[in-house]
Amino acid sequence: MIRAAARALAAAALAMTAACGESALFGPPTEASCPPGSTLTWDSFGQAFMTRYCTRCHARTLTGADRQGAPSFHDFDTVFGVRAVRVHIDETSAAGPAAVNTSMPPDGERPSMAERLQLGEWLACQAP
Ligand code: HEC
Repeated sequence: MIRAAARALAAAALAMTAACGESALFGPPTEASCPPGSTLTWDSFGQAFMTRYCTRCHARTLTGADRQGAPSFHDFDTVFGVRAVRVHIDETSAAGPAAVNTSMPPDGERPSMAERLQLGEWLACQAP
């Protein structure tokens, strides 16, 4: 009886550790929306944002240790690379009415709240 309870507790603790590890990287969707007439595009916003905060790790030109652990196929030096993982970028880096996600970038210069809100809007517009 006691042993079963102890096992259940241990399992619960493990599950919590796993959940916390996950939530450290991915937050909830920001639920940002695309306002009519949004002016944010790759040229006016996305490229400069990614270059300033992301592409020192997430770029096609980087391999091996130079990626500093950034996973393959998460390359933000082109708009196509961004669109391919748009939802995950929202869940790690953007801000909106439902969440402010700040796990990326993991170090160095961080985007301002205004910039994270713009990122959420641009992604919600399908990253034009
Ligand atoms: C210092 C290097 C570095 C910078 C800069 C950086 N990242 Fe990351 N990124 C990582 C690492 C390392 C991981 C893997 C983290 C993990 O698995 O816990 C990661 C993971 C991610 C993931 C999740 C990938 C998956 O597993 O699906 C996304 C999305 C992401 N980064 C987006 C961004 C965005 C957007 C920026 C810029 C705002 C950014 N990152 C800046 C290193 C970086």
